[in-house]
Amino acid sequence: MKTRITELLGIEYPIIQGGMAWVANANLAGNVSKAGGIGFIGAANAPAEWVREEIRKAKAITSNPIGVNIMLLSQYADEIAKVVVEEGVKVVTTGAGNPEKYMAMWKAAGIKVIPVVASVALARRMERYGADAIVAEGMESGGHIGEQTTMTLLPQVVDAISIPVIAAGGIGDGRGVAAAFMLGAEAVQLGTRFVVAKESTVHQNYKDRLISAKDIDSEVTGRTTGHPVRQLRNQMTRQYHLMEKEGVAFEELELLTLGALRKAVVEGDIKNGTVMAGQIAGLVHKEQTCKEIIDELISEAKSVYEGKAMVF
Ligand SMILES: Cc1cc2nc3c(=O)[nH]c(=O)nc-3n(C[C@H](O)[C@H](O)[C@H](O)COP(=O)(O)O)c2cc1C
Repeated sequence: MKTRITELLGIEYPIIQGGMAWVANANLAGNVSKAGGIGFIGAANAPAEWVREEIRKAKAITSNPIGVNIMLLSQYADEIAKVVVEEGVKVVTTGAGNPEKYMAMWKAAGIKVIPVVASVALARRMERYGADAIVAEGMESGGHIGEQTTMTLLPQVVDAISIPVIAAGGIGDGRGVAAAFMLGAEAVQLGTRFVVAKESTVHQNYKDRLISAKDIDSEVTGRTTGHPVRQLRNQMTRQYHLMEKEGVAFEELELLTLGALRKAVVEGDIKNGTVMAGQIAGLVHKEQTCKEIIDELISEAKSVYEGKAMVF
């Protein structure tokens, strides 16, 4: 499966494991890259030295390209922007802001820059700033989301820009991969399915909750504060919505979610923690290795292309 993305990134399969705060460490990203896709270490709010260490650990797992996802609002973003250059990272995805001020430095280092966007306007702007490709992410995704669905956003972004587009949000199997390609994507980015990869180090409680989730089990907190986050329903989301209804101050809502993803991922507190996952969680039924996930996505997508029904 050769596309402009596999060529741009020098990877075998157009399958990307999206950066995920607390979840996407060297072990996950390294093993996705080793299996022929590309994994992104999720820098989120982590210090620059943690990111450096994870890059080195991932490189010990594979010599294939690995990427780093940089959250531009992080207080460490400036430092991390330099770390990826120093450590010879080949590609970054960026979120929550404008990567323009790092573009010249990254381009000089030969780093490919792929912003994650949730609207056509932002995709156009990023292309003007010199982005090499775009991740168009629909609101089906786990984590921070926009308002458009992948089904509607993707073809509109594809029509609006000439650089290649990667589809994210709601893709869980080969049918999703094939559908994204039909809409013009040249690669897919998955998050939720990789959370339960065998090499993913998230707490077993988190994996079990995700595997048992039904189609309607995710919901969005933070719409009233302008920071919508998709996660699985639990005691914390119920409390959050109650407080949102009561109109409590933004700071108080922030306090409720402070450290909550860590609580779920590291401590396994899936009642009071934030269990980020997308709407496709209902389709994720088991733990598999990164290689099994990628091989399955590719063989299923091929079956769909060849007009064969998929066998589960
Ligand atoms: C637990 C979790 C944490 C995430 N954290 C981030 C993040 O830190 N930065 C980012 O750009 N996207 C983040 N995402 C989004 C993923 O990179 C990916 O785009 C998304 O999960 C794709 O949609 P899907 O969940 O339907 O597969 C996160 C997703 C999940 C499930």
